Parts: sequence; C-alpha cells; structure tokens
Amino acid sequence: MNWFVTILGSIFICLPFVLSKTMDSEIKMIVDFLQSFNKPSNVIANLCWGNSNIKDLITNLANLESPKSIKFVNDMHTKDIFSNHKIIFLVDIACAGATQFLDKAKAGKYFGRPYRWLVINRRDTKTVIPRELEAMDILTDSEVYVSQFDNHSCNINLIYKKPQNHGWIIEKYGTWTENNGFLLSREVTELVTAIRRRNLYGVTVVASMIITDNNTLADMQYLRHKETDWLTKCNYHQLASLYDFANATRKLIFTNSWGYLINGSWTGILGDISQGKADLPGSVLVITKERMEQLDYLAFLSPIDVKFIFREPPLSYQNNLYLLPFKTSVWFCIGPFVGLLIFAMYVNAYWDEKKCQCDNEEENQTTMLIPKVSDVSVFVMSAISQQGSNVELKGTLGRFVILIIFLVFLFLYTAYSASIVVLLQASSNQIRTLSDLLNSKLELGVEDTKYNRYFISTTKDPVKKAIYETKIAPKGSKPKFYNLVDGILELQKKPFAFNCVLGTGYRVIEKYFYEHEKCGLQEIQYIQIQNPYQAVKRGSPYREIFKIGLLRNAEHGLNDRTNRIMLSKKPVCLVRGGSFVSVSLVDCYPIFLLLMYGMILGQVLLLAELIHHRRMKKVEIE
Ligand SMILES: *[C@@H]1O[C@H](CO)[C@@H](O)[C@H](O)[C@H]1NC(C)=O
Ligand SMILES: *[C@@H]1O[C@H](CO)[C@@H](O)[C@H](O)[C@H]1NC(C)=O
Ligand SMILES: *[C@@H]1O[C@H](CO)[C@@H](O)[C@H](O)[C@H]1NC(C)=O
Ligand SMILES: *[C@@H]1O[C@H](CO)[C@@H](O)[C@H](O)[C@H]1NC(C)=O
Repeated sequence: MNWFVTILGSIFICLPFVLSKTMDSEIKMIVDFLQSFNKPSNVIANLCWGNSNIKDLITNLANLESPKSIKFVNDMHTKDIFSNHKIIFLVDIACAGATQFLDKAKAGKYFGRPYRWLVINRRDTKTVIPRELEAMDILTDSEVYVSQFDNHSCNINLIYKKPQNHGWIIEKYGTWTENNGFLLSREVTELVTAIRRRNLYGVTVVASMIITDNNTLADMQYLRHKETDWLTKCNYHQLASLYDFANATRKLIFTNSWGYLINGSWTGILGDISQGKADLPGSVLVITKERMEQLDYLAFLSPIDVKFIFREPPLSYQNNLYLLPFKTSVWFCIGPFVGLLIFAMYVNAYWDEKKCQCDNEEENQTTMLIPKVSDVSVFVMSAISQQGSNVELKGTLGRFVILIIFLVFLFLYTAYSASIVVLLQASSNQIRTLSDLLNSKLELGVEDTKYNRYFISTTKDPVKKAIYETKIAPKGSKPKFYNLVDGILELQKKPFAFNCVLGTGYRVIEKYFYEHEKCGLQEIQYIQIQNPYQAVKRGSPYREIFKIGLLRNAEHGLNDRTNRIMLSKKPVCLVRGGSFVSVSLVDCYPIFLLLMYGMILGQVLLLAELIHHRRMKKVEIE
C-alpha cells in the first residue's frame, strides 16, 4: 500500500515538472511570436495549463514593450471580443476543451479576418494540420498559425484551405529556437496575406449584374450601344481585370435592380447576395445603412455626376433686349431731357408766332410750328424716331434748336441700334443657380432612371420642390421624363435643360451636335447623388484580395481607361463664331407688346372721341 502511494505521489509530483520543463520554451516561443507582430495584441487564451505556467506567461507578456493583454477563457463569449484587429486566439490543442472551443469559433465565424490564431500542436510532430482543425473554415482570409515543436526548435506555419475545399495550403511563417528566437520566412515578411494568397486557382466567383435591355449581354464586350446599361458595361470591364488579378473564373447572374429592402427581404443584387447566390455585386452601389449589413464597400470606380445640362439661352430669354442698350441712368436722363426740349420748343414756337403775326406773311403760316403742347410733342417725337417734319421754326434761334435736337437724337439712335444688333446674337450666362433655372424660360426635362424618379420626387429643398412642381411635373400634364438620347436631342432643338449623367450626356452630344452647338454648355447640380462604390459580400474570404485588386487596377489606370471609353468629357467649343441665330418671336416680343398696347390705346381714344362728339352734337341741338 505504501509503495503504491509513493508511486502515485511521484507521478503527481513529476508530471507538472516534466510538463513545465518543455513549457518554458513554449512560453518563450509564444511571447516571441506575439512580439513578432510589432503591434498591440489582446490574447484570448484557451489553455489548460497549471497555475505556475500561466503565471509565467503573464509575467513574460507584462515585460514586453508593445502592450499585450491576455485573458484566459474556457468558452467562447462574444463579450470578450472587442477591438477585433488586436485579437489573437491562443489554443493548446492538447487540452480537453479545445475541440469545443474550436467548434464554437467555427460557428461564430471567428476564423476569418481580422482575427488571428495561434494553435499549439505538439502531439504528433509530423502532421502539420492537426486533426481538430481539419473541419474548420480556415479560408483565404484567415490567419491561423500552427506551432510545431521539433526537439528544441519550433516551426510555425500558416495554414488555410484552398478555395472551395481543394485541400490545404501551408505557408512557412518562421522557425523559432530557444537561443536565436524567430527567424521569419522572407515570403511572409515581404508580402501581405492577401497578396500571397491572391491566386484563387480558377475559383468561380459569381457576380450579380443589372441588365435592363435584352441586347446588353451580347454587347458587353463590344460596346456598340454605350447608352443602354452603361454602368453595367463599365463595371463589366472594370471587374474583368479584377478577375485576372485573382485568377478567378467569372460567372454572371442577372437581375434588374440594385436592391432595396422590401418587407424584410432584399430585391435585386442584394437579394442575390443575401441569399448566397452571388459573392460580388456586378454593379457599383450607393452606400446606405441597410446595405452596409450585407456588403463591404471597397473601392470607387467611376465618377458619376448627375446635373442639368443646357445651352446658354439667347439673351432675350432672360432680359428685355430693348432696354439693355442704355444703362438705367441714361434712360432716366432721356425722360427729363425730352421734357426740357418740348418746353424749349414750345417757348420758341410761341416766340415765332408772335413775330410772324407782326410780319403777317401768309405763305409762312402752313409750315409754322403751332405753339400747342401736342404739336410740339409730335415734332419732338419725330426727331426721336429719326423722321422729318413738315413744320419748322422760322427764326434763327428756332433753327438752331432744331439742329441740336436732330443731332442729339441721331447719336442716341446710332448707339442704340448698334447695341441691339450685338445683343440679338448674344447668349445669356446669367443662369447660374437653381433659382435662376426656376425663373428662366427654359423648359426642363429629366433622364428617366430609377434614381432620378426617386430623388427628384422626394426632395425637401423648397427651390428644388418648386422646380419639380412647376417645371418637371406640373399638375395635369405628363411628367417630363425622357430617355437619354431624346432628351439630348430636345436640348439641340430649343432652349431646354436636361438632367442626366454628365459623362453619358456629353457622349450623346458629341455624337449628334454640330460644332457650334457644343458651345456655351452649362451645368447645374440638382440632385445630390453620392458616388457609388464597388462592394463585396460582407464576410467574404476574398475581401482583401478584391480590395487590393481594385486599388491596383485604379493605380494602373485600368478603371480610368474604361471610364474614358464609356464617359465623355465636356465637349470643347471650337467655332463659336459659326453660330448665327435668327431673330425669333421671343426677341421681338416686347415690340409686339408695345404695338398691341398702342392699338388698344388707339381704340380707347377713338371711343372717347366718339362719345365726346355725340355729347357736343346733343348740346348743339338743344
Ligand atoms: C529529435 O531528437 C531525436 C532524439 O532525441 C533525434 O533522433 C531526432 O533526429 C531529432 N529530430 C530532429 C529533427 O533533429
Ligand atoms: C490560374 O488558375 C488555373 C486553374 O484554374 C491554373 O491552371 C493557372 O496556373 C493559374 N494561373 C496562374 C497565373 O497561376
Ligand atoms: C427580353 O426578353 C424576354 C424573354 O426573352 C422578353 O420577355 C422581353 O419582352 C424582352 N424585352 C425586350 C425589351 O425586348
Ligand atoms: C409588404 O407587406 C404588406 C403588408 O404585409 C403588403 O400589403 C405588401 O403588398 C407587401 N409588399 C410587397 C412588395 O410584397
């Protein structure tokens, strides 16, 4: 009995001793491993070690320079997991609870980015992939380090599964020896994980694309009809270089919208993504809060500017041309000046008459200016409008005054008509803001797209609302939504402003407009559209690879190349002088208005005279 107790006792005493002997180097390895990242780490450890070992580990970690925290857990709790980028899970596979811990991690998807793992494997020095890890989802985006002790050195390898379960890939991270510490492998230190693993070996990556036209698919490569589904076509070419970068196989599925949350389920692209049918949206998407839960936004591919395009309208659309030649002050001076002239003429005429009565020459009477206000006014009017007169003043003084009057009005008239000629051909650059647009005589139209219909009808801004209600969709008439080409052709025909994506709008303009019509194009922003971004399914193991791939494509100018093919810049105005505009009704409008008022006044005066005449007759009869 006694010896039995002794043996048992010695086993119990010896075991921790034996363990702790190897543990010492293991603890050193762990500390060196954490140190090798050169950044703060929060370690979550699932270990079944003795208290003294754990104490050792804690003390060693506490002595490090960059901060490390360690927490010992028996189970996976989400409350322990915060500041994800710092977390390193530490698991000793020999421990009884390890399998359970790993299963929980698999269920919680903790093997993916950005968590790191250090798995201590000492059971069998030959197998690098421990049996317990074989069923785990350790994919391209994971960082799982497995340490493999081999006598006094320790190999650390990164392991991950080839995409779509085509076996394991092992990357050497480094070798650790007790004396020399870590010797990191060059490949791992020089290239980041995503670049090392970017070759997906022909894995199928499904992209969900928007197609609204049956011919789009056939035209995807050749781009004969750049107007239809241009964004999809643009994306198709931009993603092609991404697939090359990742050596992935492209598979496309098609839908008809970007995707909105309706009754708790997603439609369109987001529907495909949330149901797991697609990994990648084949079109760029605008960022919204709800979509963030499904997607990780990665990169910006095509700039999208939605604005009103219009040609500068003729000046007469904004102003009364016939008032413009003179400044307001000149007009105000002309008024009193005419009054003064009438007065001077009147005095002169009065004086002449007096003189003539003395002379009493018969033949002079008919050509004399009679000193009446009305006669004098008519005389001055005829001078203003460059007409002659059959009456005159006879005296020297009078003739001198007449000369002055005709001379002054000749110069005024010349200045005025020279100005009018220029103004008739001028275009107005006075439309600069949305309220200018609202108050202008331009007709407005909007490209018929889902986002336009949505954003334009839901705007809250009072000016934009007024534009929508009075110009785009006035009550009782059809809302002015056009397809792109029709809208741009309207722009060519008449003073019109068209809201569309600038790049595509300008391409149509380049195609259909004459050179001189490309001049004076102006833009005003109406809806504030955010730029759409290329995204990837949230939690996709290829996220980093795609992100780096997209940025690399942008750096190499591949995205820009596609954008230049698909979207045009504002056309350059080469021959402005060639544009000759005929005088239109709008230009003559004030003149016709004047004529009409004159005619109405004439009728009224005639009526008044008739009534007066009748009265006088009655008085005579009585
Ligand atoms: C490990 O040590 C054993 C004996 O202790 C030896 O036979 C074996 O070759 C060593 N392995 C390596 C890789 O050095
Ligand atoms: C791309 O993947 C295929 C497997 O589908 C492979 O044969 C090919 O070598 C890979 N290309 C590169 C450049 O690695
Ligand atoms: C596109 O094709 C589908 C089926 O092939 C057809 O039902 C639909 O009318 C077509 N649409 C157009 C615009 O041609
Ligand atoms: C959403 O749900 C409401 C009520 O349950 C229903 O009336 C409506 O038709 C649904 N909309 C769609 C698009 O399914």
